[in-house]
Parts: sequence; structure tokens; C-alpha cells
Amino acid sequence: MNLTVNKVRALKGEITIPSDKSISHRCAMLASLTGGIVEIQNFSMGADCISTLNIIKKLGCDAEFIEEKHLKINAENAFKKDRYNLDCGNSGTSMRLFSGLVASREMETTLFGDESLSKRPMKRVILPLELMGAKIKHNNFKAPLIIQGRELFPIDYKSPIASAQVKSCILLAGLNTYGETRVTEPYVSRDHTERMLKYLGANISTERCTTKIKKSNLQPKNLSVCGDISSAAFFLAAGAIVPNSDIILKNVGLNPTRTGIIDVLKQMGADIEILDERVECNEESGDIRIKTSDLKGITIEGEIIPRLIDELPVIAVLASQADGTTIVKDAQDLRNKESDRIKCLVTELIKLGSDIEETPDGFIINGKKTLKGNSVTQCYHDHRLAMSLYVAGLICEKPISIEEFQWVDISFPEFLPLMQSLI
Ligand code: S3P
Repeated sequence: MNLTVNKVRALKGEITIPSDKSISHRCAMLASLTGGIVEIQNFSMGADCISTLNIIKKLGCDAEFIEEKHLKINAENAFKKDRYNLDCGNSGTSMRLFSGLVASREMETTLFGDESLSKRPMKRVILPLELMGAKIKHNNFKAPLIIQGRELFPIDYKSPIASAQVKSCILLAGLNTYGETRVTEPYVSRDHTERMLKYLGANISTERCTTKIKKSNLQPKNLSVCGDISSAAFFLAAGAIVPNSDIILKNVGLNPTRTGIIDVLKQMGADIEILDERVECNEESGDIRIKTSDLKGITIEGEIIPRLIDELPVIAVLASQADGTTIVKDAQDLRNKESDRIKCLVTELIKLGSDIEETPDGFIINGKKTLKGNSVTQCYHDHRLAMSLYVAGLICEKPISIEEFQWVDISFPEFLPLMQSLI
């Protein structure tokens, strides 16, 4: 579906941000390990989380929606077969986390995915799992992965990258391994796995950048998922740059390992306010109000990068409307996402009229430039690029067209109707 986006005069109103993708994946995965019945409120309907849901069904769980987004999982008959063939679709989180989850169980599992996922690097999870004793066949460190599950050994792993997928893979392997498994990362990445494992009774603790886990059984407790700050980010950026805007985003996850976007907006001078903070199932959430803002360019680097890694494409759009230069560094892993997010983003924003330059580990943007638009853009099968381009389209002088916009369904099928409700 090719979508045309027109300039708008203002964004006004209040919306509820749909379910967090990272947390939904983990709810379904961990529920499958409880051996009992778990109800999950507000499960994500994005295609990636549906891939994870279909996987736990293949693994033997019963799963049904008893109301909209309210899922009931029965894991009493899970993991009873010797072989599984699991389709991860487009989802890197499914492939990397399930690798760890299945590697320590006596069964053979093939994990495969779509064209894009089959090109993404899996060495980052294969290496630590092999150190634990796992037997994995792969296609030059890419999917499909054939994992011959067996009893593993604990390791003390120093991860070269701050990646929640790598960390979670090792923790899920460690959850079913005797002894103490440890993972240390250079900076703290999102910690949803750790928090949920703890909530469900696992023997797990974290100090600074190191997490330790011992073999544990999980209790079947009901779970609830807050809204996705990575989805909210598109509305935060749009609210800040579209003239005359004032919007409220309800039920946004505010886990500090994810709130880099809020820190960046504040540093850029945005008019942003957190309205009502609460905690549910070990995760903070709240409502956020944002208004049209005068922004200034900043440098984004180091420890904040894993706290906003998925928001960098839309931060580039924000920066195009900020006075001065914005520099993004230390984000080379952006090249390994659903697309090479540095190259693809820079190519498309230049088409719209932005002054942006690619660097090996990020980009440099000189603002504040009027975006002329009047162009046909591509999203490279990447949901976050599609939505970032949409936000840019809202302020372009002339309409833009985004090819294959349906890729938004990977994480945020509700994006268009929610955006249109504010126009
Ligand atoms: C995710 C971790 C991040 C993020 C991805 C979701 C997760 O990936 O980019 O969208 O749910 O653990 P990395 O661990 O590769 O940084």
C-alpha cells in the first residue's frame, strides 16, 4: 500500500498508546515456561508478537484471546515433542530470545524467518550459547538456526555490545542451567526480561551492567502490558514539530532503560510533561503531554544509545527541525536492524530536503531546514522507517508518498487511525 501524507496545521487530542512489543514478546515466552495458566492483559497485536504467540502454540501451549488483546495461555502441555520448526517471521526478538530458551531443553529446534531476518546477524547469540555447550547449525552465522538442545553449563559472559536480545538469550538459557550464569554488557540495555523473570519468581539479580541468574521455576502469574514508548515516540516527535500541537499520550511505558527519547526531547528543549506515573507488573508507566516546541540540536552518544536505539530514525526527523547541529554517534548497530537504518534513513530524508549526512556509526543533521517533500519515499520493509517518514510528511511543504506503508503492521497496526484522530 502506497500512502500519501499531507502537511497538517496542528495535532490535538488524547490517545492511548498500544501495547509494548518487547514486553509482549516476553510475556508470551515466559508464560510458556510456567507449566500453568497465565492471562495477559493488553498483548500487542503487531505481527512480530503474533509470530511469538504462534511459536508458543507450536511448542504446545494453548492460547486464545478471551477479549480484545486479553490473552489466556495454558502451558500445561508445552515442550512435549522432540522436534520443532519455528517461524519467527520478521522478528529478531523472537529468533534471538527463543534461541536461548530452546538451547537448554532436550529437543531439536529449527528457527527460521523471512528474507530480512535471514540476513540479520545471529553470531551475537550463537557464540555465547556455544560457550555454554549448545550445538547449533547455521548458515554462516545467519538463520535458519538448527539447535540441538541439551543440558548447558553456566558462563560468565562479557557481551561486546549492549543488546537486550543477546542478554535475554543468555538469561533464558541460564534459567534452565545449573549453577550461576552471568552476563555483563558495556551499557545497560532494556531490562524487561530481568524484571519479568523476577516478577515470576526466578532467582535473578542485577548490579550495574551485570545480571546473574540461577536455574529457577517460574510461577504462573497474570501479566499486564503497558503502552510502547517506541510507538509513542512517533507521536512525541510529531507533537513537538507540527505547529499548534498539544497532545496527551496515555499509558506509555516509562522503564528508565527505554526513556532515552524523553531525555533527548528535554535536552532539545521540548515542552514535555509526565502526568501520572504508576507501576504495574514491575514496569513503570504514565501519561505524557507534549506541545509544539522550539528545539535545539544536541549530541547523542554513549550510554543513552541502547535506551533509545529504536527511536533514532524519528529523532533524525526531530533534529531536522532543531536549530543547530545534531550528532548521533556510537549507533553502528542501527545498520543491523530491519534495514540498514543509517543508510536508508539518510537516503530518504535527503529526498525530503533534510541536510543530513551518514557517518559510520550514526549521522549528522544540520537544522532547521524546511522540508520540501514532493517526493516518493521507500521504507525498505522497515516499520520504524515507514512511521518516521510519515512524521516527516506531516511538516513537508508538498505531499509525500511512502511505498509499502503496510510494514507498520510489524509493530504498530493502530498507527494510522491513531494519528488521524489527532489531525
Ligand atoms: C529488543 C531489543 C533491541 C531493539 C529491538 C527489541 C528487545 O534490539 O532494537 O527492537 O525486545 O529485546 P538489540 O538487543 O539488538 O539492541
